[in-house]
Amino acid sequence: MTRTERTTTDAGIPVESDEHSLTVGPGGPILLQDHYLIEQMAQFNRERVPERQPHAKGSGAFGRFEVTADVSRYTKAAVFQPGAKTEMVARFSTVAGERGSPDTWRDPRGFALKFYTTEGVYDLVGNNTPVFFVKDPLKFQHFIRSQKRRADNNLRDHDMQWDFWTLSPESAHQVTWLMGDRGIPRTWRHMNGYSSHTYLWVNAQNERFWVKYHFKTDQGVEFFTQDEADQMASADTDYHTRDLFEAIARGEHPSWTLHVQVMPYGDAEGYRFNPFDLTKVWPHGDYPLIEVGRMTLDRNPTDHHAEIEQAAFEPNNMVPGIGPSPDRMLLGRMFAYADAHRHRIGSNYKQLPVNASKSPVHSYTKDGAMRYTNVSDPVYAPNSKGGPQADVENYGTPAGWHADGEITRSAYVDHTEDDDWGQAGTMVREVLDDAARERLVTNIVGHLLNGVGEPVLQRAFDYWHNVDKDLGDRVESGVRAKAGEKDPKAAEQGNPARSEMQRKA
Ligand code: NDP
Ligand code: HEM
Repeated sequence: MTRTERTTTDAGIPVESDEHSLTVGPGGPILLQDHYLIEQMAQFNRERVPERQPHAKGSGAFGRFEVTADVSRYTKAAVFQPGAKTEMVARFSTVAGERGSPDTWRDPRGFALKFYTTEGVYDLVGNNTPVFFVKDPLKFQHFIRSQKRRADNNLRDHDMQWDFWTLSPESAHQVTWLMGDRGIPRTWRHMNGYSSHTYLWVNAQNERFWVKYHFKTDQGVEFFTQDEADQMASADTDYHTRDLFEAIARGEHPSWTLHVQVMPYGDAEGYRFNPFDLTKVWPHGDYPLIEVGRMTLDRNPTDHHAEIEQAAFEPNNMVPGIGPSPDRMLLGRMFAYADAHRHRIGSNYKQLPVNASKSPVHSYTKDGAMRYTNVSDPVYAPNSKGGPQADVENYGTPAGWHADGEITRSAYVDHTEDDDWGQAGTMVREVLDDAARERLVTNIVGHLLNGVGEPVLQRAFDYWHNVDKDLGDRVESGVRAKAGEKDPKAAEQGNPARSEMQRKA
């Protein structure tokens, strides 16, 4: 190999050796003055930043978003104006596993996008599913804990997962989705992405529209069966990470076509479903998909840590023409992410190249650990010293909606067709074909047989009966038959899938 640059310390000082510590004679002690050795050891000890609490395992790539249609009648956002091309970065992830966990575990996939627009950074932090397990942010932390590890043995526990789900009937739509084929995408390239939430779009005339985003994969939707995924989890833990990186390196640049569903502002109140309930979709028949543009990923990171691990996606990063909706989950998320980033990366995380705006920043924040951009006076507002001033004339009206009422802790007000089971049942009966329904039953039965005991098991049967009577019957008989094969005594006692832990207790 030909020699390239000489090694230096982080201070740029040429080092004396890549291999040997500084010692008193070849057999003598190592000297404290070997600052290069100390730099190597100390820096190594600090290489990891805390992993993301959820969505720890993931990877991503850079690319561009190109507008292919005209949606300017719905939003004035620069990123969605005709002809706009915007640089971006995407990160895909699993939710519950840790940084080293297998890519092919059954789990929703994160679909996090950061657009470097001419009006600041726009983050759209979605999943590969159009709905979610809960609809109030107060339940999110509990939900994630139920999917992660127990306190006592540090193991994941299906009994704990089903305990939470069956006590939270609003999870039924998402759990149906998760247990179906799309619960394990074949690769990240072969899955769709959804905003899941409803957002508010505002046009140049300040007219408002509710929208949902759908990024449809141009590679086609493909999935792994449970068996294929299990085999892949041991054959190649990082299969999805590798697939994306290698596809881009080969010049096969994956793309997704963005469509939106648009609901006129005034439709929301009288709509048959609560349009802000994150456990519901808007049926396509009610609000058809409208094309917006295409996202293409064509550049791999060169430093995963700097460009992907330290990427900080946050739903609060919305640009003019885009705002939040009354979806409580979205409103909760508008606090959670920036707080996580300050903890995980440090208070000046927005200065890192992957997070920094490519349009000018003139903010009044200053100082803090690792701040490196120079701040200039004046450092306060209002001032008469020529500092930046808010452009109230052009940007002074927040994207919002009318709200009033008594302060309360209560559920959403139901719309006529709101219930926890209906849309899940529609998916089972009307979207899945016989083969997909059969795989759904097999996946649920397999999941329940993995350590779910009474009373959770009976509640799980009831849960599936509520989604669809026939599905519930098939799940119940499937579990009882398989558990009977394994443990006839347990089947006789009507407790067919007692967990190992309960057996031992
Ligand atoms: P449609 O027949 O118009 O849409 C059904 C959608 O289901 C398809 O467009 C596809 O979404 C999605 N789909 C297909 N196979 C699967 C699968 N195995 N797992 C999950 N989703 C799948 O009907 P509606 O819009 O009236 O919706 C009917 C049901 O379909 C809903 O209750 C919901 O459960 C499900 N669904 C609806 C979506 C929506 O936004 N309306 C989105 C996804 C699912 P896609 O085209 O996005 O790939
Ligand atoms: C990651 C909180 C709901 C998608 C995270 C992180 C937190 C968090 C703290 C880690 C962020 C980091 O360290 O960088 C919450 C809370 C929620 C919620 C409090 C509900 C109240 C959702 C929903 C979606 C979602 C509904 C999808 C629609 C993601 C994605 C990531 C993530 C994709 C990974 C982002 C990345 O790649 O860096 N969430 N979340 N979350 N969340 Fe959520």
